[in-house]
Amino acid sequence: MIFYFSGTGNSLWVARRLAGLLGDRLVAIADAINSQSYSFELAPDESVGMVFPTYSWGPPPIVLAFMGKLKLQGYSQQSNYCYMVTTCGDDVGLSADIWRKSLPCPVTGDAAFSVQMPNNYILLPGFDVDAKNVEQSKLAAAVERVDYVARQIAARERVTDVVTGSWKRLKSSLLRAWFLRYAMSDCGFRADAAKCTSCGLCEKTCPVHNITLSNGTPQWHGSCTMCLSCIHRCPVRAIQYSTRTERKGRYHHSDSHRS
Ligand SMILES: Cc1cc2nc3c(=O)[nH]c(=O)nc-3n(C[C@H](O)[C@H](O)[C@H](O)COP(=O)(O)O)c2cc1C
Repeated sequence: MIFYFSGTGNSLWVARRLAGLLGDRLVAIADAINSQSYSFELAPDESVGMVFPTYSWGPPPIVLAFMGKLKLQGYSQQSNYCYMVTTCGDDVGLSADIWRKSLPCPVTGDAAFSVQMPNNYILLPGFDVDAKNVEQSKLAAAVERVDYVARQIAARERVTDVVTGSWKRLKSSLLRAWFLRYAMSDCGFRADAAKCTSCGLCEKTCPVHNITLSNGTPQWHGSCTMCLSCIHRCPVRAIQYSTRTERKGRYHHSDSHRS
């Protein structure tokens, strides 16, 4: 069983590829939360994967909230195997440690992997999407990396194979705390009514149903996960975040439509 969360499709692509290679089933964390489904029955030797993007050098708050309520019926440390795969633009800090500490008792985090993929964080000054050549080389390298990760999972290796980056403690504690406190608000999102075509894609692809169209333009309702699906997927660049994103690029994985 592979639980996943994804905003702009990188983690969905990884989860789908792993599911294909391992013959596993996928569960969307956002759908599970929307339907209040937190209890899952495991087969005796089933592996449990969690695939999600790195948000400020840790797992996204929505993933941690889900893990806090998750019940894995039939889990045994001896026969089940639990791993995480986090996608990131650059590095993940102490994401694996935070994930392990957040697992529901008595689940043990046997393995943790990171996969570098195109960056989607554009809201703060100094952050932008990757140049096209970097985007393409990250996507090409990710194929091999995910295939390697799948082999590690199939062999049930107990490893932590992540790019922590420099200043990992500072990033995953102080900077992360600042980010979670001050940079998770959807107050900055706005839609340019002159550009918006009322196509409803932002509403449809918001994983937490935080967007509705009102008089044809999107309104955000305060329970945003900061996945940035809306701003990156808008086909006419009508969505901005304050004045910081007008000159920033946009990115979403080309193979990321939710089924
Ligand atoms: C709110 C937010 C915070 C992010 N923080 C980090 C980070 O700490 N380190 C990093 O390398 N990438 C970071 N990123 C980039 C994403 O982790 C990366 O692009 C990821 O592959 C996006 O996955 P998705 O397409 O499945 O949503 C961040 C992105 C967002 C939206």
